[in-house]
Amino acid sequence: MCGIVAYKGKKVCFPILLNGLKKLEYRGYDSAGVACLMNNKIHITKRAGKVKELENAINNKQSSKNCGGLGIAHTRWATHGEPNQKNAHPHVDASKKITLVHNGIIENYDPIKKFLKSKKIKFKSDTDTEVLVQLIGYFYKDGKLDFEKSVRAALQRVDGAYAIVVLNADFPDMMIAARKGSPLVLGLKDNEFFIGSDVSPIIKHTQQITYLNDSEMAVINGDGYEIKSVDKDVSLPKKVEKIDYKIDDFDKGKFQYFMHKEIHEQVDTILNTLKGRSTKSSVLLHGLSEYWEEINVAEKIYITACGTSWHAGLIGKNLIERFAEVPVHVEYASEFRYNHSIMDNKTVVIAISQSGETADTLAAIAKANDFGAITIGICNVPGSSVSRETKCGIHTRCGHEIGVASTKAFTAQISVLYLLALKLADSKKKITSHVLKKHLNMSGYEKSAVGLNPYGTKAIKSLLRKEKSINKMAQKYKNASDFLYLGRGLNFPIALEGALKLKEISYIHAEGYPAAEMKHGPIALVDKNMPNVFIVPKDKTYDKIISNIEEIKSRKGKIIIITDSKDKILRDLADDLILIPKTNQYLFVILATIALQLFSYFIAVAKGCDVDQPRNLAKSVTVE
Ligand code: AGP
Ligand code: GLU
Repeated sequence: MCGIVAYKGKKVCFPILLNGLKKLEYRGYDSAGVACLMNNKIHITKRAGKVKELENAINNKQSSKNCGGLGIAHTRWATHGEPNQKNAHPHVDASKKITLVHNGIIENYDPIKKFLKSKKIKFKSDTDTEVLVQLIGYFYKDGKLDFEKSVRAALQRVDGAYAIVVLNADFPDMMIAARKGSPLVLGLKDNEFFIGSDVSPIIKHTQQITYLNDSEMAVINGDGYEIKSVDKDVSLPKKVEKIDYKIDDFDKGKFQYFMHKEIHEQVDTILNTLKGRSTKSSVLLHGLSEYWEEINVAEKIYITACGTSWHAGLIGKNLIERFAEVPVHVEYASEFRYNHSIMDNKTVVIAISQSGETADTLAAIAKANDFGAITIGICNVPGSSVSRETKCGIHTRCGHEIGVASTKAFTAQISVLYLLALKLADSKKKITSHVLKKHLNMSGYEKSAVGLNPYGTKAIKSLLRKEKSINKMAQKYKNASDFLYLGRGLNFPIALEGALKLKEISYIHAEGYPAAEMKHGPIALVDKNMPNVFIVPKDKTYDKIISNIEEIKSRKGKIIIITDSKDKILRDLADDLILIPKTNQYLFVILATIALQLFSYFIAVAKGCDVDQPRNLAKSVTVE
């Protein structure tokens, strides 16, 4: 977590840095700080809390206007040390000449700190980060080792993950950035340089960017820059890419929160993700073509991810096993990276990630690559670490997702997995061309550019038009302290996802369960105050789930039903009911998800929660 932004150029740096921090605030908002170089001295301003606090502090300082054109800034998600002002970045070394911002964790901070303390170096914060800047300072020792060499020497001695940007008051025309395990992007424009944890703080200024790889450092000096290795003093060739992001992605438009905007964007994001990826009779996934022969004969598939992306993985398992008849194991990346999975070059490992920077997912990919498995990335950020470190992949095309609660990425991930399951089934001759065509040409939905859009833009639009009634329902339940979300088959992961959305943005405890499994424990929680959200498609699970509803009803639990059926029995059983448009069982999953996203969104707003920046969370978890 943590957002880093840095600038070197002729403009006054603070407005660029503050603006950049606001774009990166989704990555962490425990504290924020900036450092710049004025009159050959490092000047630091930092505050606990959100970027707004820092902005107020800066606006109150007259000297801020003369901050010059070299600065670094940080918005923190604390790993080591309380989220207070003392622990906020940037940190400085003992000489106060060197300052740095850091995203990641220095795992061996303790022995290094002991060593530095034995050299009489005093520490001012409780962070792991300060150890790194003090170590650079220790090697630099007033110029005994040059600046670049000191940074390299320190980085070679730390374990863990880092993205850093460092300034040194003795080098007023220089800025050094480096990464290992945490992302860093360099933006280039004439004689200006921009650094960001992602492109969001850069895109307004330039489209020319280069992504740093692990163990690379960017040494910016005067008007030039060089990409070098952290391991030895050699230059590395590097391509500069032109990226094409819409600046709109970073604005809320008419919406109060990004999450709400992103829920509404699903009308387009699902379609964008599907576009060009099928004809009327076949699935086209060009991103996989180089490895398709191996993927097609794979004997086993693992899906690995975290959080919401892991829920998408559960749906992927259901679809791939259903259509292509290949066994699929779905694993939390944080477990997969350490467990004893049996993999070889006949194993496919699918890593799903919105951000493409989740540390555990990246470690899981690295492990799979080491075993020779065929790694596939399903990721929303082109150029991200997941995109680059998997052997092949498919991008979801959602644009930037800023709300900490993932919404549009999830439905796009499901869409991609649906296509992948169908393609695999087709290649393996597990479904007939007739059935495949039926999937690709589901009747009653709008046509997309190529083939048909099986997900039904119209249905999504019609559901979104009902949001007022979902909001009304949310008002009724906003004071509940616990929720159960229950679904079966394809909708069990949706129950998990519905519960996660509610927990993370409204701080109401919620659990997702397979509807029948609820009898094996959670039913003990049910009383007259407890809302139970049932996801009830009119499919072969329908009768069974009605029995599960009766079981809760007879214990006086409140019943909320999300369904595509107009059956009277459901209306009789429900305290509240969201009727979603009648489509098919695959689109139902998407529509039920959107209904639940809106439900949790409105509850969180009603409770006055900060929907886009829920407490304790950050958008991308770039630490283990
Ligand atoms: C989703 O609402 C969460 N904030 C979180 O669980 C997220 O899905 C998870 O951290 C994985 O992120 P990724 O998809 O970017 O890898
Ligand atoms: N470990 C550093 C701190 O706690 C950086 C945290 C991060 O990148 O999430 O300040």
